[in-house]
Amino acid sequence: MTTTAILSALAEEQQGLIKLLEHPQKTRHAGRDFWRGRLHGQPVVLALSRIGKVAAATTSVALIERFKVGRIVFTGVAGGLGEGVTVGDVVVASEFVQHDMDASPIFPRYEVPLYDQSRFVCDKALTALLLQASRAGLESLALPTKALLHHGLVASGDRFVSGAAESRSLRSALGLGGHEVLAVEMEGAAVAQVCFDYGLPFAAVRTISDCADDTAHVDFPAFVKDVASLYAQAMVRHLLAL
Ligand code: ADE
Repeated sequence: MTTTAILSALAEEQQGLIKLLEHPQKTRHAGRDFWRGRLHGQPVVLALSRIGKVAAATTSVALIERFKVGRIVFTGVAGGLGEGVTVGDVVVASEFVQHDMDASPIFPRYEVPLYDQSRFVCDKALTALLLQASRAGLESLALPTKALLHHGLVASGDRFVSGAAESRSLRSALGLGGHEVLAVEMEGAAVAQVCFDYGLPFAAVRTISDCADDTAHVDFPAFVKDVASLYAQAMVRHLLAL
């Protein structure tokens, strides 16, 4: 049976999943804790990437090389960038771009040098399952206000985006060729690139914790503390049941 890695960036996002883990076995590797066990009957490894693209890449490689996972799913939070993408909504990524990648004029802006591409596409089949799980997960949360499920481009970079001007410029710079950027976070594109290198299925779901604007620094910690873990549990429970 394929082992699924569930990757989170923050302890608050992961804590509920660890509590649910059956036969938990903790291994320390590369300065991180990896939790092997079963979740809803399925073999899983839970890992905390920490924040940023390099940390996420290190964790992904360890999951693949050392823990032999067969697929990676990222659950976490993101800043909303897209039109109508607001706090409490959920974004399932279709593809990722590194918004801080710039080797111009040698390579086009955003292109990852020597990969000949600026976007890394998520696994179609796993993403379809994650969309289904996220829809069911959102319904099961029975939130007081309606939260929307979005699907599309997500941007990653080593920067917490916390200003209306910056998020506006990201939106217009990345929203080229008919692609609207929906959300910004700090890890997904790195995991997508590692999974591309290894030929491993990858999918990602992000709950919107803030709108990457002038109040993001206040909204983000409040959401992460109180709500993020509930979303992660709901999405993962429904995904592993499929
Ligand atoms: N993750 C959650 N909110 C974010 C933001 N505003 N910028 C970058 N990463 C985030």
